[in-house]
Amino acid sequence: MTQAVLGTLYGDHLRELCARADRVLADHGFDGLIVGSGGLRYQYLDDNSYPFKPNPRYAAWIPDATPDCFVTYRPGSRPWLVFHQPDDYWYLPPSVPTGYWVAAFDLQVVRSPGELGRLLGAGGRWAVLAEPSAATAGLGDHDPAGLAMEFDYARAAKTPYEIECMAQASVLGARAHRAAEAAFRAGASEYEIHLAYCQAAGAREEELPYNNIIAFNTHAAVLHYQHLDRQRPNATRSFLIDAGARYAGYCSDITRTHAAGPGEFHALIAALDTVQQSLADRVRPGTDYREIHLAAHREIAGILVRHGIVAGTPEAAFETGLTSVFFPHGIGHLLGLQVHDVCGLAAGPQGGTRPRPAGHPYLRLTRDLEAGFVVTIEPGIYFIDSLLAAAAADGRGRAIDWKRVEALKPCGGIRIEDNVVAGAGAPRNLTREAFSATA
Ligand code: GLY
Ligand code: MN
Ligand code: MN
Repeated sequence: MTQAVLGTLYGDHLRELCARADRVLADHGFDGLIVGSGGLRYQYLDDNSYPFKPNPRYAAWIPDATPDCFVTYRPGSRPWLVFHQPDDYWYLPPSVPTGYWVAAFDLQVVRSPGELGRLLGAGGRWAVLAEPSAATAGLGDHDPAGLAMEFDYARAAKTPYEIECMAQASVLGARAHRAAEAAFRAGASEYEIHLAYCQAAGAREEELPYNNIIAFNTHAAVLHYQHLDRQRPNATRSFLIDAGARYAGYCSDITRTHAAGPGEFHALIAALDTVQQSLADRVRPGTDYREIHLAAHREIAGILVRHGIVAGTPEAAFETGLTSVFFPHGIGHLLGLQVHDVCGLAAGPQGGTRPRPAGHPYLRLTRDLEAGFVVTIEPGIYFIDSLLAAAAADGRGRAIDWKRVEALKPCGGIRIEDNVVAGAGAPRNLTREAFSATA
């Protein structure tokens, strides 16, 4: 992807954002929009800042976010970028941006964010999408609920530019996943795999979309396992890695599970991989995402029965809620500028909630899919002590083959996660595409 092509796609993306703003501002009676990148936050009683995490509503407009900058837009005019470049010798001031997107803006470089008000002048009713700050105090209404909701809701359907950025984030992620697996096979610890991952992704830790989940053995049964052991265990049976990358602000979110060698756990991974791909094939416009989640439970019930983990029929395992013991999270979520992108449960652009299926409290997306939606498909099978104990206590455990469970428990669990685009024709699986491109 050349910068020229990306620039053309970005131009279309920005036109879409401006058209969206024209509509939403008119609907809510505002004359213009101010979107702030956000400021640095400081650690308590300390002069060290936390890593800068830009306002995602700003990142939708600007690919490389810098603290205390603003996009301003009035319908009928070109958008402005008010770019904060402090005069500083403690920290290196940010360079005035260059690149495929900059020419679309009228650029105003300021030494202090407080110059925003002077630049805007008097008059007009502004909607401010930003956390309140000294720079925006008194300029307009901050995050007006109905207006912000409409912008957020629209973000689910990605523009071709956004999909291209996510394809690039997938390539970075796939490359780093390959390096991680090679490190695992070479005997690295969780921590060393993490370092190999960051190096291959070309990312420092704070640039990753979320903390890497790098889990050996029973750690893989902890859904968001957060540590990185420095020591490799004596017997390493399994390796689950949930790790992504960013490109121009957009995320990938990828999970792979590897067995140390052949055997039952390896066969279970292969079975879940087949199911995962059939679920990914359902990512099509018009599909109710809740149906994909429920289909995942039915398919996982089939695996559990075929592999002798659960007795009886797959239908019974589904109907009694037994599958939730082994698959206790949602089948996935919207993905974009945020890993769990906004408005997954929204009933419409004006708000309201589209309910989750009863008994499925962790599903993060309940909307009907539309062209341009990018979602994850991430089924799992885990052996989690507390959930198994609850099943034993409430009677569901009678259908569980406990010997099989005890044999598989030391491997922790399996998750396989791809990022998939709904559109005309077959779904586009960005993750599988990226693994093929980096083979
Ligand atoms: N990496 C977090 C998730 O898969 O949702
Ligand atoms: Mn995910
Ligand atoms: Mn993930």
